[in-house]
Amino acid sequence: MKKITKAVFPVAGLGTRFLPATKAIPKEMLPIIDKPLIEYAVEEAVNAGITEVIFITSHTKRAIEDHFDQNFELEEKLMNSGKKDFLNKINRDIFQNIKFTYVRQKSQNGLGDAILHSEHLIQDEPFAIILADDLILNSPSCIKQLISAYEQNQSSIIGLNEVPKNEIEKYGIVSVQESSSGKTLLLKDIIEKPKTNAPSNLAVVGRYVLSNKIFEYLRNLEPSVGGEVQLTDAIKLMLKNEKVMGYLYEGIKFDCGSRHGYVNAIRHLAEEIFEE
Ligand code: UTP
Repeated sequence: MKKITKAVFPVAGLGTRFLPATKAIPKEMLPIIDKPLIEYAVEEAVNAGITEVIFITSHTKRAIEDHFDQNFELEEKLMNSGKKDFLNKINRDIFQNIKFTYVRQKSQNGLGDAILHSEHLIQDEPFAIILADDLILNSPSCIKQLISAYEQNQSSIIGLNEVPKNEIEKYGIVSVQESSSGKTLLLKDIIEKPKTNAPSNLAVVGRYVLSNKIFEYLRNLEPSVGGEVQLTDAIKLMLKNEKVMGYLYEGIKFDCGSRHGYVNAIRHLAEEIFEE
């Protein structure tokens, strides 16, 4: 069985919902208190056994590359000014043996197109996808739960949660086989942001473990919802030919791509600080 060691982080989106903050700063670098959103996501992956981190990035996202690089000048200054305790905050032990790779998505043609940019690095392995916008807190983490479920089922598996009816049109929504129940569900169909006739209230979250076959479906996709190439459409094609599971993960999710979710995440983590 192939282990999941690679994770793709698509971070090339425009982040329009956070303008003007995201005019010069990547959305993923916005801090949740004192740590950028992207670091929570990479930490989640690394703690789940990922050793290769692949960012699909763009020319406006250089700060992400700098963030995971070494800053010798700052390290030296901290060393020489008796602030050694801060060193592991900027050069973290858990990232020491992780390989970081950056691929540019030149034109923001959608999440599906972003993922397709990792094909040459993933090759013939199953891999994880993490959307940093979805901050999901739990131990074991959401991606760890999905990787364990992948190992048990040996099929592509995507994170799901229930959403209120009035939010259905914001997400990819799945329908499941009648016979399936429990946490691991066999998917029948998936549809991106349904306006009417949604098949359920089970929404896709930004955590996936996919077989490399997904690239075959992504390669020939036309843009759809929002004029973008949608990962959901490729999964829809894939589940016609092979088993794709959904997994009702446990954890608290904050959609930090929206102001509401971002503020709630800060509020939630701020409580821990006030309790210190
Ligand atoms: P979103 O739909 O949240 O879009 O993308 P966005 O551009 O980041 O934010 P808004 O809607 O303009 O405010 C979902 C994920 O897909 C990535 C984003 O970076 C985010 O992680 N993405 C999206 C790409 O990498 N490339 C794209 O062309 C589109």
